[in-house]
Amino acid sequence: MSMDANNLLVVDQDDDFVAKAKELFDGRLPVARSIEEASSTVESGGVRMVLLGPSYNGEDAMDQIRSLHNQDPGLILMLIAEEVTADVLRQGMRAGVSDVIEAPLDEAKIEAAIEQFAHDVLKRKVVTPTGEPARDKGGRIITIMSAKGGSGKTVLATNTALLLSRVADKKVVLVDADLQFGDVCLVLQLEPRFTMVNASHELHHLDGELLDSLLTEHPSGLKVLAAPLEPAFADDITTAGLMQMLDVLKENYDYVVVDTASMLDELILSLIEKSDDILMLVDMDMPSVKNAKLALETLRLLKFSTSNVRLVMNRSNSKAKLDNKEIEGALKMQIAAAIPSDAMVAASVNEGRPVVETDPKSKVAKGFESVAELIAGKIPEHTAKSGLFGRK
Ligand SMILES: Nc1ncnc2c1ncn2[C@@H]1O[C@H](COP(=O)(O)OP(=O)(O)OP(=O)(O)O)[C@@H](O)[C@H]1O
Ligand SMILES: [Mg+2]
Repeated sequence: MSMDANNLLVVDQDDDFVAKAKELFDGRLPVARSIEEASSTVESGGVRMVLLGPSYNGEDAMDQIRSLHNQDPGLILMLIAEEVTADVLRQGMRAGVSDVIEAPLDEAKIEAAIEQFAHDVLKRKVVTPTGEPARDKGGRIITIMSAKGGSGKTVLATNTALLLSRVADKKVVLVDADLQFGDVCLVLQLEPRFTMVNASHELHHLDGELLDSLLTEHPSGLKVLAAPLEPAFADDITTAGLMQMLDVLKENYDYVVVDTASMLDELILSLIEKSDDILMLVDMDMPSVKNAKLALETLRLLKFSTSNVRLVMNRSNSKAKLDNKEIEGALKMQIAAAIPSDAMVAASVNEGRPVVETDPKSKVAKGFESVAELIAGKIPEHTAKSGLFGRK
């Protein structure tokens, strides 16, 4: 991306700051003294990046920044802060800011910011503000993601949710956020009467009771919020709507497990922002590791914290076994759990009977258990909610 001073716009109320910024570009830099003025400059075209000065660091300025972002979501907004704190970063992200640069501003910093965004395909995928920050009161949201399709997310999500529902006094709901091709219900042999499409039509008065009536119950007691039944209905589900459903579920459930599609899109970014735990599933092959690396780097670039991401390896005993240390080095993250490969898994998917129920002693089931234990500590043994020897 080539960018010159004409594509930039500096906005601040402080004379000193504006004067110094102009100096950097020999006085050729367009400036605005208020967001309103910036907004009309943007309106007239040509502006690609807006540098918001320290006047706009406070929480009360975020609404104004957001209005600028909404006016043109493709605009790259950079906030210049006296001090880059976690709060400024978080508030900035919510308002649509792409990055926060520490004051004082200099040419190198502006150039670095432009560079970073020039090669970043995701530069325009700024997360839409979605309300409450993660990790507030209520249950835990556990999102299962992978950077490559078919890596076993749905198998992991269903088995982990079943294991978590064994923990005494814990209520668990599994949300199928693979909006187009969700198959949680298929894998659990459930026929939903309602799906999240119904919930999406009731958002204005959605509460715990109403949402509960739209869930589907598995014989084990696990509840499921089903994905749309047809890909075309996926359009009915907005990111904000789904986030609202999760907020409601969180109030009544201890664990909200979310299965996703393998896409690094606005939905997954919002889910990551909202989740307490993220299980990043990686298959034991090169393309999977490569994609996981790209996904993690993108998250880091977008200033998402990866501290609550746990790495889970699938098919860890496969023939093309990669070296664990190499994977950890490439992903800059420790492997937290591993699930071996077993033909039994494919059969369990076809029959709609998860292995943690049919073969709780198998190595695969133990693998799923090690994942559930990352979330909930020791998982009780499979007892006869559905027959001593598994569901028949
Ligand atoms: N540990 C395993 N051992 C053997 N087979 C496995 C294992 N994990 C997953 N599979 C097989 O891989 C296939 C894909 O798994 P799954 O549907 O869970 O992947 P996914 O990541 O949800 O895929 P998608 O991206 O399409 O949603 C399944 O049919 C299953 O049989
Ligand atoms: Mg799936």
